[in-house]
Amino acid sequence: MRDHDAQRVGGLARRLTSILVARGQDPSTPPSEVSEPLPALRAAEARIPARYRSAFADHPAISAWVREIAEAGRPGPGGAPGIAQGRSLLIVGTTGTGKTHQAYGAVRSLVSAGVRLRWKATTAADLYAELRPRPGHDGERELLDLARCPLLIVDDLGAARNSEWTEEITMRLINRRYNEMLPTLLTTNLGMADLREHIGDRVASRLTEMTDKVILDGPDRRRALAAERQRLAAIHA
Ligand SMILES: Nc1ncnc2c1ncn2[C@@H]1O[C@H](COP(=O)(O)OP(=O)(O)OP(=O)(O)O)[C@@H](O)[C@H]1O
Ligand SMILES: [Mg+2]
Repeated sequence: MRDHDAQRVGGLARRLTSILVARGQDPSTPPSEVSEPLPALRAAEARIPARYRSAFADHPAISAWVREIAEAGRPGPGGAPGIAQGRSLLIVGTTGTGKTHQAYGAVRSLVSAGVRLRWKATTAADLYAELRPRPGHDGERELLDLARCPLLIVDDLGAARNSEWTEEITMRLINRRYNEMLPTLLTTNLGMADLREHIGDRVASRLTEMTDKVILDGPDRRRALAAERQRLAAIHA
């Protein structure tokens, strides 16, 4: 093979790898196992916020959880496995370490693995705002929907202003999911002591039992990306 042919092949391989990663597929999977993007993946991506639409859960603990959940799924009406019960994850890290990215990446990986998945995602602050009692709105029903959803993402736990009411809502939501052993992906910027302070001891106790803790301890990726952009702009200036 001539040098420039080898370079072209290398470039194509790199492009293919980045396309597979963007689709949430493992680039090391043999080509025969790589299928066309699933309609289910397209449908899931349509519900994922634009920033995280191509998120790939590359953290080993998240990938291991995805495998465990995918393998434990019971076959549903169409034959594809669905989520029944499983462990939950508490993704902990300071600002910008990639917690939300890993959570949406996990949804994409599950769907890519063929798991038939009903999922919902909310931030804790949106959850409380949405459930606030107001005329013409059935907050109880909404709480029940979230509590029963096969997979739930609760992003930024502990980031909203807390009160007795938010503690009660969090307790009712988590307690139901704890009782039914439904997988939940929770993210937080707080350490356990501060989280317990914020959400109450009874929720913290349940989370300790039902979740595996995944600690993301890298730098703030937003600031790292901004610094990289500035560095490149300076080179090209
Ligand atoms: N593994 C990754 N690969 C590529 N980009 C990533 C990865 N993790 C995070 N990012 C990007 O870094 C930025 C910050 O990630 P993200 O929003 O997930 O952080 P976070 O920990 O949820 O922050 P916060 O605590 O402020 O909510 C986003 O633009 C995200 O797409
Ligand atoms: Mg986040």
